[in-house]
Amino acid sequence: MRFESKDSIDNLRATEYLSIIINLSERIFHDLKNSLATILGVLQLVPTDELPSECKYYMEQIQVAGLECKEQLDRFHSFIEGYDEDVDRCEVFSDIVFAALNMIKYRLIRNGERNVILNVNIHSLACVYCNEYKMRQAILNILINALDAMEESGGVLEVGVYEQDNRIVLDIIDMGIGISDEDMEKIFQPNYTTKGSKGTGLGLKVSKSIFEEYGGKIEVKSRLGEGTKFTITFPISTSPNEPSGSSI
Ligand SMILES: Nc1ncnc2c1ncn2[C@@H]1O[C@H](COP(=O)(O)OP(=O)(O)OP(=O)(O)O)[C@@H](O)[C@H]1O
Ligand SMILES: [Mg+2]
Repeated sequence: MRFESKDSIDNLRATEYLSIIINLSERIFHDLKNSLATILGVLQLVPTDELPSECKYYMEQIQVAGLECKEQLDRFHSFIEGYDEDVDRCEVFSDIVFAALNMIKYRLIRNGERNVILNVNIHSLACVYCNEYKMRQAILNILINALDAMEESGGVLEVGVYEQDNRIVLDIIDMGIGISDEDMEKIFQPNYTTKGSKGTGLGLKVSKSIFEEYGGKIEVKSRLGEGTKFTITFPISTSPNEPSGSSI
């Protein structure tokens, strides 16, 4: 499926768009994994002892690259697995935050060279009624944006979960490039990206729509050149079977 214009994306509900992407991704994942298994399998059949040392070296390089590809695919799969549109339930919110943080671990190791320090403060184990997978993806996008913003500068990525006024609050604070007042108006618009071909500009639109589906409110404060703070709040769920706050 190809989206011809910005309008066609606007007309799709963001979560439907996510669902289409996930389904396509699953198919691509399986095809690539099968092809890679063939490449790595055939490589093992080559009698390398009989090859000139130069060829042997090249074969080893192919194998290393193939194994790296496999690792990347496995990481990608853990990103898309668990997608299930129908399952909404009372989830311990901080568990979802940890699961999302787990998925950016590799970026922290890579960014380690540029000194990105993660500072996590969890002060609530309250539940939010939601789909664990969708919520994880929505939070993940905010975290990835924060890391992207600190790509050059490095700095501290602060993640906090606490309760305030009967709501659970998630703060994601970076020390990155920041957002100007003018750009702030555009960041939730579909297709708005400052990342060139690396970004689709759909992340925040999808995240916001998922947060709102679960009664979430999102607020952004930023200073150009200093950093950005995303604050997302949700009603606390007290019943395992009912949407947040409905039993209060
Ligand atoms: N923490 C941040 N610091 C600075 N700019 C940000 C931050 N978060 C979002 N932005 C700005 O908002 C834009 C839109 O973000 P969004 O997540 O929607 O798309 P994207 O990250 O560009 O691409 P993708 O669709 O792959 O997520 C970004 O390109 C960036 O300019
Ligand atoms: Mg993004």
